[in-house]
Amino acid sequence: MLLLWLLLCYVLVSNCARAQWTSQTPLSSSAFEPRKRIGVVGLGTGGITALRALRALPLHMREGWQITAFDQRHAVGGLWVPQDDPPNPPSVPQTPAYPGLRMNAAHMHMTVPGEPFPPETPLLAPRERVLEYWQGLFDAVQLGEHDRVLLQHLVTQAAWIGDHEGGYWEVEVMDLSTNRTVGFQFDHLIVAPGVNRFPRIPTYEGQDAWLTAGKRLEHSMWFRDASKYVGETVLTVGGGPSGLDVARHVVRTARKLYWSRKDEGPDLPDVPGAENVPSFVSMKDGLPTLENGTTLPDVDTIILATGYEVRVPFLSATNFLDDAPHGLPFDGARLSTNGRYISPLYEHIVSLDSRYPSGALYFVSILTYDPTGIANTAQATFAAYTIANASLLGTRAELCAALAQREQRVRDDAGVEPGRYGHKVILGYGPEQGYGADGFYQDVLIRSLVARDPGLGGMPGIPRLGFNFTETWRVWAQENTDKVLVGWHEMLAERGEEWEEEFVRGQRTEADYLYTMRRFVEFWDSRSGLSGSASE
Ligand SMILES: Cc1cc2nc3c(=O)[nH]c(=O)nc-3n(C[C@H](O)[C@H](O)[C@H](O)COP(=O)(O)OP(=O)(O)OC[C@H]3O[C@@H](n4cnc5c(N)ncnc54)[C@H](O)[C@@H]3O)c2cc1C
Ligand SMILES: *[C@@H]1O[C@H](CO)[C@@H](O)[C@H](O)[C@H]1NC(C)=O
Ligand SMILES: *[C@@H]1O[C@H](CO)[C@@H](O)[C@H](O)[C@H]1NC(C)=O
Ligand SMILES: *[C@@H]1O[C@H](CO)[C@@H](O)[C@H](O)[C@H]1NC(C)=O
Ligand SMILES: *[C@@H]1O[C@H](CO)[C@@H](O)[C@H](O)[C@H]1NC(C)=O
Repeated sequence: MLLLWLLLCYVLVSNCARAQWTSQTPLSSSAFEPRKRIGVVGLGTGGITALRALRALPLHMREGWQITAFDQRHAVGGLWVPQDDPPNPPSVPQTPAYPGLRMNAAHMHMTVPGEPFPPETPLLAPRERVLEYWQGLFDAVQLGEHDRVLLQHLVTQAAWIGDHEGGYWEVEVMDLSTNRTVGFQFDHLIVAPGVNRFPRIPTYEGQDAWLTAGKRLEHSMWFRDASKYVGETVLTVGGGPSGLDVARHVVRTARKLYWSRKDEGPDLPDVPGAENVPSFVSMKDGLPTLENGTTLPDVDTIILATGYEVRVPFLSATNFLDDAPHGLPFDGARLSTNGRYISPLYEHIVSLDSRYPSGALYFVSILTYDPTGIANTAQATFAAYTIANASLLGTRAELCAALAQREQRVRDDAGVEPGRYGHKVILGYGPEQGYGADGFYQDVLIRSLVARDPGLGGMPGIPRLGFNFTETWRVWAQENTDKVLVGWHEMLAERGEEWEEEFVRGQRTEADYLYTMRRFVEFWDSRSGLSGSASE
């Protein structure tokens, strides 16, 4: 019996050992020696665009590469993959997305170039449709025979073994289906872990007294369903997109909703029925207190829509991303984050940490307020081409100088420190983001590649010489997206889903959708003109 038991153990252990070895270097028997090993962390929109861009490179540029992509979740799509039963705090949900969430902008200008949404998608696409869109793009990627996509794999550590002249990433990954740790080595890492994962939860004076009194303090990341606020008085804190989203839902169920917004916050629409109040500052004496000294004695629940912190634990764990609580000196040669801004990064993408070559570590999709599909695609395209040809990147000194220049423009034009401003690209262009008359962020980026090698014009993912990466119509779509955001929700509330279906009936192509958006914006303009409530 004992012998049998030992034998069984031996078989199990050796199988596991083999399984582990196999997932580390499959096909080791076929003597495949990759010319480059590329790791992609995260398969939300950022990671998906990275896979697309890497595989879109001309064959001669990517021959012999091996791509390995990880996501800790069971499906690709990042925050659009639902988790409708989130864990209780302090455990953090996998996603802030909730049932009934819709895109916060018309879908055409959130798309990847040349990839419109499927026929008859409402302009403010529901969560399920956004997930299908990105999963469709993922499914269409033709991976190579040595490439690997490993779901339910959590990257826990990454460290550069080597120096600024060369080396490799030693990466530790936990297979969540077995809890085994597996090791990988990569020449380049593309990190796309998302920036809506670590809720920013300030501590307020007096909050213990508030909680002891049995009142609730929540963060919007846990928000799933407004029905729990029936009959309550709720204070939503934060004037960003999450604040707007939460306010729009809670106003329908709560007895009373206060919405606290800072004066300098983004210019988002009001929510009919919600009372705008000044900045929320404390719970002194157990009462929510506003900046102007007023207290709100009747509040039952406070929902903090105070945003997220930019953190990358698997780099922090190995001291390859420092905490910089007191701000970010630009010429710090080590990569650091103050929770809002990772620095030094060239164009929010390329790490300029001096412990490894530039081009060893890329970030995709850490921008906020950007037109997701096209901005991510440009970043991923930039990463793919510069991995293929390092001389397209320029020297570290050149990249540092370009970063310093962009940051100075943010200081001059937005009047804030870049470390405070973060990775916002509010309209995708404009001086406040450091892109003056040069066009969209993504155009500037792709143009910089073509400037180094004009031969790239017309290559996959790169426009012909003389053309911009961004199609002209997107400028209009982007500038009018707020009208769709306000108007669409209002029409939906007023006329219901049949109106919505009718409105997008027969729409198939990008041109159809553009026409539909124009039709909607014209309708909305004329209606607002008539009712005299324009731009409220
Ligand atoms: C509520 C909400 C609504 C939004 N609405 C819109 C919208 O309407 N339109 C729009 O364009 N944008 C919207 N955004 C912005 C959104 O963040 C981007 O559109 C985009 O989906 C983000 O993709 P991502 O790949 O950067 O990150 P994510 O979608 O967060 O994906 C990152 C992935 O990386 C994985 N990951 C992270 N760390 C690890 C690790 N260590 N190991 C393995 N896997 C890891 C995560 O599991 C996740 O799947 C919204 C954001 C929020 C929070
Ligand atoms: C892995 O670890 C987690 C957390 O400790 C545990 O809940 C889970 O059951 C484990 N899974 C397996 C397959 O052992
Ligand atoms: C402070 O703000 C509240 C809520 O908007 C308002 O009712 C009150 O009049 C303000 N008080 C002062 C002194 O401005
Ligand atoms: C790499 O880029 C440089 C420009 O930086 C260009 O001159 C060279 O031809 C490119 N090499 C290849 C193999 O494409
Ligand atoms: C490209 O963008 C720039 C800056 O926005 C603009 O001036 C130019 O006309 C555009 N070029 C084309 C061909 O559309």
